[in-house]
Amino acid sequence: MHWLYTFSVWLHIIAACVLIGGMIFLVSILVPLLIRDPDLQPLRAPVMHKIGVRFRNEAWAILFILIATGFANLLFRGIGARTMASMEFWSTSFGRVLAIKLVLVGIILVMRATHDFLIGPRATHLGQTDPDNPLTIRYRNLARNMARFDLLLTFAVVVLAVWLVRGVPW
Ligand code: HEM
Repeated sequence: MHWLYTFSVWLHIIAACVLIGGMIFLVSILVPLLIRDPDLQPLRAPVMHKIGVRFRNEAWAILFILIATGFANLLFRGIGARTMASMEFWSTSFGRVLAIKLVLVGIILVMRATHDFLIGPRATHLGQTDPDNPLTIRYRNLARNMARFDLLLTFAVVVLAVWLVRGVPW
């Protein structure tokens, strides 16, 4: 059984690495390069769209893995539905940290869905049909800032994850 628990935590951490690594690559390398490099200007919209869609699909699969292994990690720690139904559990230090972590993951899921299925496609469409329209620039900036905020929220989730395992530092 311990092997299965080890595998679940390992897969959870690897999934977190792939998600965060992919977001950092997009936010700090690909997007700035596509925006600032004049040689890449003609390729900006198609490259952004193709890579954006590919990473979107991968990110949703990873988020599914994180949620599934997250609940598996809890079960391996003896925390099942009955424990999670008791208010006593949520008033413990572990319960409070887990509650904040789950709320942040919920916000990440809503923001990512809005970015991936609403703002992102709209920004891509406007970028292809009317690139210089102020509305296009506004949608692009919104999509970019949502991606950055999503990354910050995910960093915060990892801090909470470390506190889950090692306890809060106060
Ligand atoms: C964006 C989503 C998530 C990210 C980036 C994330 C990240 C992490 C990381 C990096 C760890 C390892 C921490 C360490 O060993 O110091 C961890 C542990 C853990 N996570 Fe998550 N997590 C996410 C979602 C979830 C969800 C949705 C749950 C619960 C349903 C969850 C439950 C846990 C548990 C229980 C542990 C402790 C594992 C152990 O027993 O050692 N996580 N998480």
